[in-house]
Amino acid sequence: MAKILVIHGPNLNLLGKREIDIYGTVDLQTINTEISKKAGFLKVAVEFYQSNYEGDIVEKIGMADKKFDAIVINPAAYTHTSIAIRDAISAVNIPVIEIHLSNIYGREDFRQKSLISPVSKGTICGFGINSYLLGLEAALSIIKKDK
Ligand code: DQA
Repeated sequence: MAKILVIHGPNLNLLGKREIDIYGTVDLQTINTEISKKAGFLKVAVEFYQSNYEGDIVEKIGMADKKFDAIVINPAAYTHTSIAIRDAISAVNIPVIEIHLSNIYGREDFRQKSLISPVSKGTICGFGINSYLLGLEAALSIIKKDK
C-alpha cells in the first residue's frame, strides 16, 4: 500500500478558531479525519505531521523518502519565506504536492509568491479542506504512474 505524508505548517494547529472568515470553522483534527476517510477510500496509508518550526519541517521532509511515496504539504506562512523548506523538497526523491486552504493568488501581495511551487509537482489552492483531498488524489495518481 502506498504511504503518503501529510504535513501541516505553522498556525494550522489553530484552525477552527483562527481567521474563520478565511479558513472556516473546521479544526485540524476534523481535517485529518476527513483525509483519513478519503485515504481509506483510495486505499492509501496516511501519516500526519504538524509543526510550527521550520527546522522540524525541514527534517521531516529530509527523512520522508525512506518511508513515504509522496508528500502533501500545506507549508502555511513558510510558503512565502522558506528557502530551507524549498531546498528540502528539492533534495528528496519523492513527489511533493503543495496545497493551501485559501486561494493565495487572490490575497495580499506577499502571499501571491510561493517559494514552494517551483519545486512541487503541482499546487492546489482555494478549495478549503477539499484542497487536501484533491492533493491526496493527485499524489496517488503520480505514485501509480511512476510505478
Ligand atoms: C495558507 C495560506 C498562507 O498564506 C497562510 O500563511 C497560512 C495558510 C492556506 O492554507 O491558505 O497559514 O497556507
